[in-house]
Amino acid sequence: MDPQKVECIRADVRASLFNRKVIAFPIATRLAWHASGTFERSSMTGGSDGATMRFEPEAADPANAGLSIPRDLLQNVHQKYPDVSLADIYTLAGALAVEFAGGPRIPFQFGRKDDTNGRRCPAHGRLPDASQGSDHLRDVFYRMGFDDREIVALSGGHTLGRCHFSRSGFDGKWTHAPLVFDNSYFKNLITLTWEERKWDGNRQFTDAESGELMMLPTDIALKTDPAFRPWVELYARDEAAFFRDFADAFGKLLALGTPPQCCPFAAKAKAHASRSAPSAIFREACMHGSSVPEIRDLASKCDPHELEPHSRRSALHKAAFWGHDHAIKLLVGPELGLRVDVQDSDGDTALHDACKFGHPGCVRAMLAANGAATAMRARNKQGKTPADLASEYGKTEIVQILRGARM
Ligand code: HEM
Repeated sequence: MDPQKVECIRADVRASLFNRKVIAFPIATRLAWHASGTFERSSMTGGSDGATMRFEPEAADPANAGLSIPRDLLQNVHQKYPDVSLADIYTLAGALAVEFAGGPRIPFQFGRKDDTNGRRCPAHGRLPDASQGSDHLRDVFYRMGFDDREIVALSGGHTLGRCHFSRSGFDGKWTHAPLVFDNSYFKNLITLTWEERKWDGNRQFTDAESGELMMLPTDIALKTDPAFRPWVELYARDEAAFFRDFADAFGKLLALGTPPQCCPFAAKAKAHASRSAPSAIFREACMHGSSVPEIRDLASKCDPHELEPHSRRSALHKAAFWGHDHAIKLLVGPELGLRVDVQDSDGDTALHDACKFGHPGCVRAMLAANGAATAMRARNKQGKTPADLASEYGKTEIVQILRGARM
């Protein structure tokens, strides 16, 4: 889209959310999250495409109570730019709300389409239930394709806003500055003493120090669960790490289940691919996890070993990064024979990528392939091996697989 038009849309969204009558950054963030957080990877249903929250049964999901307000606030932006879908506007508003409240810039691409009826509405029950614990959080977020680190980073969205008794049955704010996006939520979670609130409402927690703040049972689960807790501690002491991980995870969330052009991380590669050779199109297909026949067909039209000029990344890097097991098997197999030990401009091999993002199927396939022994020992520009990255990012299953691999 024309950058000048994007700037105008940003300004109009800001004016809708922040004006003499209202500061709606928190609830706009929640709208974007609930529009996207219904995604289910296995069935490729749910997600923000379609702006289905306007229709029943999604509109009446008790989890979405109050969200008609930001939808109505944003209606004028759609009226001004009718070619920009409501699905784009709802998600963009969440991304901008974080930024306008002082948080990181969230990667975002336009391209969602609006449905005209509620046929694609997901059933109730896909959004998390705040009265539950860490197993439930994993059920909900793993279903979308997130890992533990991303669950904790995303939960940091509670640094904004508050609970409203009339909407959720919970009451109160998480921080003393609920209109500012920072890492106070994690600092409060770690440093304050949390006691169960004595009242007639839902089970929730109050800070013993001021008695003014609250945590939900799902927030407390991040502190008590041994795999979540290290990320809470990291984000409490390192706001930059929180901003970086939140931006990545929230950008990913907003793109779930949307057309490929909405993937903010793929957009740059796509722009490049559209300008260039068949090998770029082949690499892009590997990145998106296209079907085996399609990848095979594209491979037959180019040199599948060719590297992306600016990043020195192969098709194998692309598939490993996003965790497409079937593509990896084809790429390293006898037919195409891509090597695992090719290092990109950051010194990462495809094995580094699969280890960092926790894709066990990809790691297993690559360990049996040409160049695996060298890749296991290869150090990237930060001096890290694939095993170092697996440990650093808490990918315990990968650490075990690497330990078991005899090279
Ligand atoms: C981890 C699971 C989550 C649970 C169980 C949960 C639950 C809740 C609940 C019960 C409320 C109160 C709603 C109300 O009464 O108005 C709330 C508010 C909010 N949530 Fe979450 N949430 C979760 C994750 C997230 C995520 C991933 C984000 C964003 C990245 C987010 C952003 C917000 C914001 C900004 C508010 C405040 C809204 C306002 O002030 O109107 N939440 N959440």
